[in-house]
Amino acid sequence: MPSGKALARTMAAFVDPRVPGPVIELGPGTGPVTDALIRRGVAQDRLVLVEYSPDFCQLLKRRFPKATIVQGDAYDLQETLSGVLNEPAAATVSSLPLFTKPMDQRLDLLERAQAMMHPDAPFIQFTYAVVPPIPARSEAYKARASNRIWRNLPPARVWVYNKANAP
Ligand SMILES: C[S@@+](CC[C@H](N)C(=O)[O-])C[C@H]1O[C@@H](n2cnc3c(N)ncnc32)[C@H](O)[C@@H]1O
Repeated sequence: MPSGKALARTMAAFVDPRVPGPVIELGPGTGPVTDALIRRGVAQDRLVLVEYSPDFCQLLKRRFPKATIVQGDAYDLQETLSGVLNEPAAATVSSLPLFTKPMDQRLDLLERAQAMMHPDAPFIQFTYAVVPPIPARSEAYKARASNRIWRNLPPARVWVYNKANAP
């Protein structure tokens, strides 16, 4: 089910459009979060959209012609984005269904995304679950959550992960 506008806006609100560099979106689907990022002030040509479905990639190319659209597996991020980024990213915004993957793969994804971003850049993830999709407590990162977004169907929450030593 596509994210509703309130959820997409909440995800985009955690991105500071003034921070330079690409903004990576994982699992953009039909683009509701992409749209919210652009409305937030992120220029379309800064967006790098990683989507597994070739059909969604076609649709995204039509909707966002200036964005970089990469068809591939977000969990294999280094390989999928090899040669695509030429500077550290400002944020990663993920709508991937993380609970379908084992925890070590979710932690790997966070680590891989963080390796591609500014040290203080956020990894932003929504979930319908009541528990965080990646544990909230760790020595490697710190996590914070939005309020539950009741207007979304089903209600959702946004989790934001930053490196522990980030300012
Ligand atoms: C829950 S949908 C979210 C779509 C959209 N961002 C939204 O919020 O409505 C998850 C999206 O992630 C994509 N996806 C799932 N696994 C993926 C993977 N390993 N790599 C890249 N995209 C993936 C799916 O094709 C789908 O478009």
